[in-house]
Amino acid sequence: MPARAPIVAPSLLAADFARLGEELRAVEQAGADWLHLDVMDGHFVPNITFGPPLIKALRPLTRMVFDVHLMIAPVDPYIAAFAEAGADRILVHPESGPHLHRTLQAIAAHGCKPGVVLNPSTPVESIEWVLDLCETVMVMTVNPGFGGQAFLDSQLPKVAALRKKIDATGRAIALEIDGGVTPHTAPRLAAAGADTFVAGTAVFGAPDYAAAIAAIRTAAG
Ligand code: DX5
Ligand code: ZN
Repeated sequence: MPARAPIVAPSLLAADFARLGEELRAVEQAGADWLHLDVMDGHFVPNITFGPPLIKALRPLTRMVFDVHLMIAPVDPYIAAFAEAGADRILVHPESGPHLHRTLQAIAAHGCKPGVVLNPSTPVESIEWVLDLCETVMVMTVNPGFGGQAFLDSQLPKVAALRKKIDATGRAIALEIDGGVTPHTAPRLAAAGADTFVAGTAVFGAPDYAAAIAAIRTAAG
């Protein structure tokens, strides 16, 4: 089981895009630990969101950790731009380039914490030989591309398997979950060993952000 207190990372994807600055400040005041930023290119996933200029514009507004989830391919040519825009942590999918190890090295070389994201169909073994470079392993509990999708219970054994692999390293690698996280799904995820929880709809779709964040944290505690 994870030793650290659960981290809650609201996903800006579910925020009001006409009021992003206010939304970001609101979740920070509401107790968010990290801000999760979903970058989509309309190619790797069937949706388009935003890129480095938006992240750069938001960076001066907050001290929250920027947890940048890149759903773009190829990813390597854009690592520098996201690091320079203010990303603290950069998450990539193994399918978004031919050399995952090199991509993770590049993220670290640019001063950011590297992480790998597993799609629902991506096996646990895909991180086997890159775990030494990872600060995060993130499990998608929906298919990437959209917020508000139904949680995939099928991924719970994968979370448990990754918990074992991470514990075996002796390092505090974050085991993060993205997709369908709610106070209802968080207890099962925490029991499987997750310690970091991305939540879009469950935070920005709630009337009271502080209550929504606290409910997830309590459910995961
Ligand atoms: C989906 C994104 C998620 C998304 C989660 O591709 O990676 O971060 O915002 O949204 P919810 O929490 O609504 O499932
Ligand atoms: Zn995400």
